[in-house]
Amino acid sequence: MTAVAVKIALAGVGNCAAVFVQGLAFYTENPPKGLWHPTVAGLKPEDMKVVAAFDIDRRKVGLTLSKAVFAPPNVARRYHAPPRSSVSVAPGVSRGDLPPHLRGLPVDKAGSEDVRRTLEDSGADLLVNLISSGSDASAEEYADASLRAGCAFVNCSPSKVARNGRLSASFAKRRLPLIGDDLMSQFGGTAFHRGLLSLMVKRGVRVSRSYQLDVGGGSETLNTIDESIKTAKREMKTASVAGEVPYQFETVAGTTDFVDYMGNDRTSYFWFEGTNFMGSGLSVDVYLRSSDGANAGNVLFDVVRATYRVAKSGKLGTVNEICAYGFKAPPKPIPFDDANAKFSALYV
Ligand SMILES: NC(=O)c1ccc[n+]([C@@H]2O[C@H](COP(=O)([O-])OP(=O)(O)OC[C@H]3O[C@@H](n4cnc5c(N)ncnc54)[C@H](O)[C@@H]3O)[C@@H](O)[C@H]2O)c1
Repeated sequence: MTAVAVKIALAGVGNCAAVFVQGLAFYTENPPKGLWHPTVAGLKPEDMKVVAAFDIDRRKVGLTLSKAVFAPPNVARRYHAPPRSSVSVAPGVSRGDLPPHLRGLPVDKAGSEDVRRTLEDSGADLLVNLISSGSDASAEEYADASLRAGCAFVNCSPSKVARNGRLSASFAKRRLPLIGDDLMSQFGGTAFHRGLLSLMVKRGVRVSRSYQLDVGGGSETLNTIDESIKTAKREMKTASVAGEVPYQFETVAGTTDFVDYMGNDRTSYFWFEGTNFMGSGLSVDVYLRSSDGANAGNVLFDVVRATYRVAKSGKLGTVNEICAYGFKAPPKPIPFDDANAKFSALYV
């Protein structure tokens, strides 16, 4: 057995984290079936390990990570037993921006210095932020604690962290990668929407309008139908999608409803409209069914391994390639195909 290289801390032990840790055990014990990139930056899945975890939900804090990932309100599917681990979920920071699904419930909080100390004691190389959408001040607090602990930071939430000028300057000064924002699932609504638009553009169809309406279960969907969070998340998804077409067109992309019995699954309904020869019209109606946590797994595996490599070298020149490959709102967006090609050339 090889020594584990990549030591990961998780902020937010929700559905995404639940599938991520199951994946670590699965791909250590099984052939790489379903794995997008078995090796990234010279690292394999068995080279990654979770060494610390934070949450504020009292139903999770204090439990071992392998129990916490299945504690309510998580609804992620059970694909595989998580790695046996002595890591227990520590209380995290909260800056009074509780997600709607936790309002009125008991929470356990710690200070930012406690988080910094836990990160240092665990030897974590990077902190992956998987806390709920809308907790912007808390996300920033985790980034600050991570910086003080000398850890790289990967922001999977839509909060403006990698795009925050103060933070990006501070991370750069310490030669630590700051990666984000808003993870782009492997084959989720945004990737699918962008892919179809890109195909229309490449085939010379003049795109006029499109929409993407997502319906799902899980606490993250419940949070994102809250009016304030819904608007911010919709703007972000819409901007990400619009970047695929080199001219103005009308588009809307966002979560429209929560259905509890969908569990961690999501259905995305798409409509595309365009014109081609002599103004003849065409349209596409299509829907995609996927499972959120699993859809994040491959991209998270890739981003974590590439980020670790940058953190160890201290050479930050490729940070934007990681952001553009794995995130909907990178500091410097580039089209989908370019981002994939650049990431592959550098790390795969
Ligand atoms: N495919 C995907 O799942 C996907 C794709 C893109 C982005 N994301 C982002 O990843 C994040 C996690 O998604 P999820 O589906 O796992 O959400 P989730 O609701 O299942 O889990 C969020 C977890 O964060 C915890 N939390 C909330 N505030 C906290 C705080 N201040 N400190 C510590 N923990 C806190 C909650 O208790 C919960 O355990 C979200 O921000 C989401 O937008 C996920």
